[in-house]
Parts: sequence; C-alpha cells; structure tokens
Amino acid sequence: MSKSLQAIRGMNDILPEQTPLWRYFEGTVARLLDNYGYKQIRMPIVEFTELFKRSIGEVTDIVEKEMYTFEDRNGDSLTLRPEGTAACVRAVLEHGITGGGQVQKLWYIGPMFRHERPQKGRYRQFHQIGLEVFNLDGPDIDAELIIMTWRLWGELGIRDAVKLELNSLGTSESRGRYREALVEYLSAHHDKLDEDSQRRLKTNPLRVLDTKNADTQAVLVDAPKMADYLDDESRAHFEGLKARLDAVGIPYVLNPKLVRGLDYYSKTVFEWVTDKLGAQGTVCAGGRYDGLVEQMGGKPTPGVGFAMGIERLVLMLETLEQIPQEIARQVDVYLCAFGEEAELAGLALAERVRNELPNLRLQVNAGAGSFKSQFKKADKSGALYALILGDDEMAQQVVGFKPLRGQGEQQSIAWDALAAHLATCVVQG
Ligand code: HAM
Repeated sequence: MSKSLQAIRGMNDILPEQTPLWRYFEGTVARLLDNYGYKQIRMPIVEFTELFKRSIGEVTDIVEKEMYTFEDRNGDSLTLRPEGTAACVRAVLEHGITGGGQVQKLWYIGPMFRHERPQKGRYRQFHQIGLEVFNLDGPDIDAELIIMTWRLWGELGIRDAVKLELNSLGTSESRGRYREALVEYLSAHHDKLDEDSQRRLKTNPLRVLDTKNADTQAVLVDAPKMADYLDDESRAHFEGLKARLDAVGIPYVLNPKLVRGLDYYSKTVFEWVTDKLGAQGTVCAGGRYDGLVEQMGGKPTPGVGFAMGIERLVLMLETLEQIPQEIARQVDVYLCAFGEEAELAGLALAERVRNELPNLRLQVNAGAGSFKSQFKKADKSGALYALILGDDEMAQQVVGFKPLRGQGEQQSIAWDALAAHLATCVVQG
C-alpha cells in the first residue's frame, strides 16, 4: 500500500480483537470514578495553541517540540491537545462552574497527541483517562486520588507491579527560592553538565533534576535539596498526604527528583511507575496545580488531578496476563436458520428473545449458507450455544438448542419457552 494511505507513524488502529480489553479497562475505570463521585466532562480535541503555551509552559518539551500545531482556514493557530488539564481548566472557566468556590470532581477520556519518538508504550496519538478536582486545597483530596488508583490496580490485578513515587514541589515562592539555589550550584559546575542540561539551566532549571545523563546525575548528588526549601504550609500538606496513605496502607517511595514535564504543578506530584514495560514505565501521573486557574485568568482556585495512559495499562494487563476470561467471549448464542421460511421465523424469534433478555448477546446468522458452514460460523463466533431452525423444527414450532462447548446433548425447546430457557443457562454480562 502506498505510504500516503497508511496510518501515520505512532498513530495506531485499535483492532477488533483488542477492543474488548480496552472496553473492559475503560469500563472498570468509569465505574470506579462514578462510585467515588466524579462526573465526566468532554472537551474538544483541538484548542487554540495559546492555551497550551500558557498552561503547560513555553519551555517544556511538549510545547517546544511535541505539539501538532497548524493554522486553520481563518489563520488561527490551533493545536491537537497534547494533554487534558489545560482544556479542562479552560472549560470550567468558560462555563463558570468553579466560581464561588464550587467543588468540581471531573474526569475525561480520549486521544492526546504528542510528536514524540514512537516506541513500545510511547505513541504520537495515545489515550488518557484523566481527572481534575477544583476548589479543594487539602491533602485529603490528593490522598483520595491516590487511594482510588490503588483500588483500581487491585481490581485489575496489577497492584504488585506498580510503585508510587511522591514528591512535593512546594508553593511557587518556595520553588523560586529553591530554583535560585539550584541555579547557583549548577552554574558553579556548568562545564560538567551535559549540553541539554546546560540549556535547561537557563530555561527551566528544575528539569535538570530528571536528567538521564550520568555525569549530570553525579553533579546533582551534592546539589541543594528541594525538601530543605519547602515552606511550612507545603510541608504540612505533604505530611498530611503521607499520613493518609499510611493510614490506608499504601506504600510509596519519596523521590526528591520527581519534577514532572509540565510547568503547572505545585505542592504534591506523583507518578505510578512499573518495571514491566521497559523504558516507558509511567502508567499514571499527576499532582496539584494551585496556581494554574489564576494564571489562566480565573480567580485563585486550587486544583489537583492525574492522567493515566490507556495503551500502557492495556499493555500491562497483557504482559501480566490479567485478562478476565469473560471478555474474550462476545457472543452467547448463535442462531442458524436453514431455508427462507426458517430465516423469517428465526428473525422474529430472535427479536422476541431480545425483548425479554436485553443483555443477551445473540447473533443471528447472516448470509444463509449450508448447515455445515453456518455451524462453523457459530463455533468460530465463540458462542456457548447454537440455536437451530430447520424444516423439522419449523414443523414442530421448536428450536434445536445445541451446547457448543461440551455442556450436554442437543435438545428441542418450544419457541415460547426459549427466552426462559436461555435465561437459566447464560450468565448475562
Ligand atoms: P503526563 O505525565 O504528561 O501528564 O501524562 C500522563 C500519562 O499519559 C503518562 O503517565 C503516560 O501513562 C501517558 N502518556 C503520556 N505520553 C504518552 C505517549 N506519548 N504515549 C503513550 N502514553 C503516554 C499529563 O498529561 C497531565 N495532564 C496529568 C495531570 C492531570 N496532571 C494533573 N491533572
């Protein structure tokens, strides 16, 4: 196929054999979020470029080199969203739903776009489920976000494979003081820093802390520590969070170098990481952003949130073989009908059954075919039972009921009794 007719590198089709696992994952998260009192919000995929520059930060990797930005026909600069927080803040401000201190607990799901170098677990179009909470400034809500994800890992059977890393970035004042001390220290060791860190020292010095370069890492060993510059309020907030995680029994690792790649964070930041996926090990990440709403033109409004990468979590479920049996089967019952008269009766019968059992996954054979070929299709569909309508069954107003997975012999069931019979033998999803 010519290249122009192929999908764009790093942007993937999610094929029919993969979607059951995606839907299981998304459904599990959505149910959990409902249960904790979060409401879904849906934002556009495209926003004005300025929104992302102002919120994520001009000198972040995302804004400097990863955004899909283009001019539309009006000459406006638009960007495919690289993340959800900026648009969510824009939406709550635009609709005034955080005014007067109103608490909002919101979640969203959808594709995000970043022009990164594609590899396993890192794509140019990827999907996030994210959430944002507005107007709650205590550590209790930070703890709730983490407790909720901990429960999710438990439900998905991947709790033992993830680790929580925590840090506090303090308020913008305390971070400012720390930044000065860090710049002074790093400037004194300028020649030993790698090129990228030398550049970041000028533009975004805190990002030097998460360098992968061994020489720069060696320089950082004796660098000033962020924790020593935390203001009292941030320190108390962080202690409050840790006490709550301890109370629920959630293990964590303090990582003083965790700074995150987006500029809007303050106080709490966290990442759930795994060593099961190779280099792209962060499956869920977020933190507090108490200054962002104001920076975007709103009243001071505390905020906290996180986002998880669906591709990475689906990969985890596959890698750890935590795929529930039930999701593989998409058909409960497959109806085969032979001859025109049987086909018409079969259609009507199927609709009657669906009226009574709306959750039954009943597939009616389409495309006619011989007894053998319809049976083959029934088997391949993964159905537990085949229903058979041929001349004999038509004459007696019954349907042949045949277990396909070795649960007993074929029997005849009267049309009127079919729904009741199916209700007893198929556990409906
Ligand atoms: P982020 O750390 O940029 O944070 O992304 C969150 C998660 O999205 C990552 O931990 C990862 O699982 C997934 N992810 C990011 N980039 C890619 C990629 N190229 N391919 C596959 N998965 C990826 C944010 O986006 C913040 N908006 C999170 C947040 C919400 N903070 C506060 N509220």
